[in-house]
Amino acid sequence: MNNTDNFKYGGREAPIGVFDSGVGGLTVAREIMRNLPSEKIVYFGDTARLPYGNKSKETIIRYSRQIVRFLIKQDVKAIVIACNTASAFALDAVSREFDIPVIGVIHAGAEVAASATKNHRIGVIGTLGTIGSGIHEHYLHILDPEIMVIGKACPLFVPLVEEGWLDDPVTETVARRYLDPLKEKDIDTLILGCTHYPLLRKLIGRVMGSHVQLVNPAYETALQLKKLLGERNMLSTSAGTEEFPYRFFVSDLADEFRKFANSILPYDVEMTQKVNLEEKEDE
Ligand code: DGL
Repeated sequence: MNNTDNFKYGGREAPIGVFDSGVGGLTVAREIMRNLPSEKIVYFGDTARLPYGNKSKETIIRYSRQIVRFLIKQDVKAIVIACNTASAFALDAVSREFDIPVIGVIHAGAEVAASATKNHRIGVIGTLGTIGSGIHEHYLHILDPEIMVIGKACPLFVPLVEEGWLDDPVTETVARRYLDPLKEKDIDTLILGCTHYPLLRKLIGRVMGSHVQLVNPAYETALQLKKLLGERNMLSTSAGTEEFPYRFFVSDLADEFRKFANSILPYDVEMTQKVNLEEKEDE
């Protein structure tokens, strides 16, 4: 690949586009901020249309396509689909349709889990959409056909996290109900296959026991992004000199988003802009 191809979208100093159905993808943005501190970010949270976890593949592809177009207009150089459900359903479609580099969060998590497991028994938790898609099993079997994958949808975790009940008896009861059947399957590795679950890491770790390794795809995705940008000579060299390196857009409830963002980011989000992607479609 030559330099012209690398810079077809944005330039080396252009921001990274990150999107999610809402606030959850901030766990991925947070890892990018920590591991690639020189990079600027344009984040889009589709707060008007969340949750994605219980919507069809067709709908998620349509939403993702609109968001990718919006991010490209913001002159980003690469896009991270921070949402597991959108990664499961739409990564292939948008990678085919747009020639900007796009990565999702599923592959990185599967790779780490495959190398971490000793007994070849891996659990995956996520939304109904992600678990129903069988995407983890697909990637894990390419890496190692011997691996046994046990998936479990945990849809109540998302609202519990958004309520702020991260280490709460109610959340623990729900977690035991979801996770006890997984414990019986003798897994030694568990992929946290939803944006919100890293925020429940402590509680999930306690319920599963210390012999089960928890894999946080957000962290692994940030490392994969660093590798991709490095290979294409697209890593920013501005060394964090920008006054406003992070910009946030949402499709609804900008203030609520900002409050949640400020509770989990190592950075003060001063402003969030609301945009209507469906209106933009008609332009
Ligand atoms: N961001 C979604 C995911 O990682 C969880 C929230 C939702 O269902 O929209 O799958």
